[in-house]
Amino acid sequence: MKLLLDSISKNEIEVLNSVIDCYGVTSNPTIVKKHGKVNLFEHLKEIKKINVDLELHVQVVGQTKEKILKDAKNIVDALGSDIFIKVPVDKEGLCTIKELKKKGYRVTATAIYSEFQAILAVMNGADYIAPYINRMSNMEKNTVEIIKNLRRFIDHEKYSTQILAASFKNIGQVTEIINAGAHAVTVNPYLINEVLLSPTVNKAIDQFVDDWEITFNRKEI
Ligand code: E4P
Repeated sequence: MKLLLDSISKNEIEVLNSVIDCYGVTSNPTIVKKHGKVNLFEHLKEIKKINVDLELHVQVVGQTKEKILKDAKNIVDALGSDIFIKVPVDKEGLCTIKELKKKGYRVTATAIYSEFQAILAVMNGADYIAPYINRMSNMEKNTVEIIKNLRRFIDHEKYSTQILAASFKNIGQVTEIINAGAHAVTVNPYLINEVLLSPTVNKAIDQFVDDWEITFNRKEI
């Protein structure tokens, strides 16, 4: 299982990288907008310095094959060939994924709202597919079934594509999608912090310390 952070906040990534086993970082133009205007390539180089092994997934903005190829080249020229190029799966995107794979790029097929869209991206050779879990849930789709079916399809047909589930709005969605067979998930740090900084857990820990102190009149073991 791979856990990635759906964020470009250096601070959040630095803190969580020291606490959990972070596999990488994903971004898209909306994540960059929320973070605030930065020189994205320089910013991502800084993020790599936090942990050189972090896998980076960077999204194109071009909407035609020509422009997507140009974006991909710019991303790789700036950040290196081990970067995953995120390409939204529409007609142009699918066609470009095929081309990018021929040229040796690493590709994450994104903006996936349906099982069929995902299957087409797998067939075109995407390294990862990123189904949008919460956005599909909002469309009343059974996301657990979709992930189970996709995993069965990939394993049965012996594709090497991995499911990198994205767009989570609560941690329950994350665990059910891991159990359904996703190879990887990308999660916003605030959802992880909600679990790690839970007042319920803190209360339990405080109670243990109080009970020890009442019994032994000290706070050390
Ligand atoms: C990540 O790769 C996706 O672009 C992201 O998870 C989408 O999340 P959202 O639905 O919160 O915008």
